[in-house]
Amino acid sequence: MQNNKVILPMKTIGIIGGGQLGRMMAIAAKYMGYQIAVLDPTPNCPAAQVADQQITAAYDDMDGIQKLTDISDVITYEFENVDLDAAAYIEQKDKLPQGAYALEITQNREKEKSVMGDAGLPVPANKIVRDSDMCASALENMPLPAVIKTVSGGYDGKGQLKINTTDDMKAACEFADQHDVSIIEQWVPFDREISVVFTRGQSGEITFFPISANEHKDHILYKTTVPASISAAVQQKALDAAGILAEKMNIAGTFAIEMFVKGDDIYLNEMAPRPHNSGHYTIEACNLSQFEQHIRAICGLPLMPIELLRPAVTVNILGDDAGTALNMLPEMQHGFLHLYGKEAVKPKRKMGHITFIADTLDEAKKQLAVYEEAKQ
Ligand SMILES: Nc1ncnc2c1ncn2[C@@H]1O[C@H](COP(=O)(O)OP(=O)(O)OP(=O)(O)O)[C@@H](O)[C@H]1O
Ligand SMILES: [Mg+2]
Repeated sequence: MQNNKVILPMKTIGIIGGGQLGRMMAIAAKYMGYQIAVLDPTPNCPAAQVADQQITAAYDDMDGIQKLTDISDVITYEFENVDLDAAAYIEQKDKLPQGAYALEITQNREKEKSVMGDAGLPVPANKIVRDSDMCASALENMPLPAVIKTVSGGYDGKGQLKINTTDDMKAACEFADQHDVSIIEQWVPFDREISVVFTRGQSGEITFFPISANEHKDHILYKTTVPASISAAVQQKALDAAGILAEKMNIAGTFAIEMFVKGDDIYLNEMAPRPHNSGHYTIEACNLSQFEQHIRAICGLPLMPIELLRPAVTVNILGDDAGTALNMLPEMQHGFLHLYGKEAVKPKRKMGHITFIADTLDEAKKQLAVYEEAKQ
C-alpha cells in the first residue's frame, strides 16, 4: 500500500539501519531541513553521528520499531533485510511509502528470480536446491562454472561459493546441506557488470541515473565508472527492464538493479530496494544525488530531472585502505573523499569511498591512478 502524503522539511524521517547508506540519506535529508531518527543496534553508528536521535535497538525489536514509528512522520530503510513483521506494522501505520512488498521480494533470491522471470526478463539459468541430492542433480544439468548462493542473507559475496570444476561439487553439496534453501546459478562470462539506479515517485513517475559499469574484487564492489561503455542496444534493454520491474513491483524511492552484459545481451543479477553503492558517484557527478532523489520520493515531493554533470569514477575504500586515503589527502588535489565514521576497521569492510570527476573519463581515471599507485 502506498500513500501520497507530502512530508515537508522539519518533519522527522525515520531510518532503519545506521550504516553508510543511512548516513548519506540522513545527510541529504538534513540539507533539506528534515529531522532524522535512526534505529540501529550499534551506539554512535555512522548514521547516528549525523542524525538528531538514535533508537539503539535490534532491527527486529518491536518496541524499538514502535518507538521509531511514533516519532517519525515517514520511515525508510538502508537495507533489504528489514524484519517483515516490522515492515508490516509500519505500513499499517501508513508510514512506509516504499511498502513491505519490495522487501519481501528482494530479501529472497528465489522470489526475486521468479518476479524477474514472470516479467519475461532474462536471468542466468538457475535451480533452487534444498539439500545435497538436489544440488548434485542440478549440477548434472548445468555446465560449469556455476555458483551456489544462499537465497537469503548474503551480501558482499558472503554466502556464496563458486563451482569451477567437478572438484568443487562436493563442497557445493555440503553448502546445500548447510543452508535451508540455496540457488545454483549458471556463471555468466560477462563482458561487464552494470547497474541501473533509478527513483520512482509514489505516483509512478521515474527518473534514471546514468548507467554505471561496476568492477568487483573478491565479490565486493571495488570501482564504478560513469558513463558505462555500453552499446545503445544494451542501454535500452537495461532501462526497459528496470521500467518493467519498477512497475511490476510498485516501487517507491531509489532502487538499483545489477546486471551482467554479454555482447548485446543482459542478464539480471539482483535488485536492491534502496540507494546503492554503485550510485555514490551521483553525489558529486549529478545535479542531484540518489539519496536526495530518494528523500524527495518518500516525502512525496516531485522528482527532479537528472543530469550527469561530468564523467566519474568511484572507488570503495575497504579495510586498511582508509589509512592510505588519509595519508594521501595532503597531496591529493582531486577526489571527493567520504569516510563513513566506522569505529572498527575490519578486512574488506566498506570504510568510505572516493569519487573522481573530470571533464573526460580518461582524466578521472588518471586521478584515480594516483590513489591506486599509492595504495600498492
Ligand atoms: N551467475 C553469475 N555469473 C557471473 N558472476 C556472478 C554470478 N553471480 C555472482 N557473480 C559475481 O559475484 C558478485 C556478487 O554476487 P551477488 O551480487 O549475487 O552477491 P551479493 O553478495 O548479494 O552482493 P552485493 O554486495 O551486491 O549484495 C557479482 O556482482 C558478480 O561479480
Ligand atoms: Mg550484488
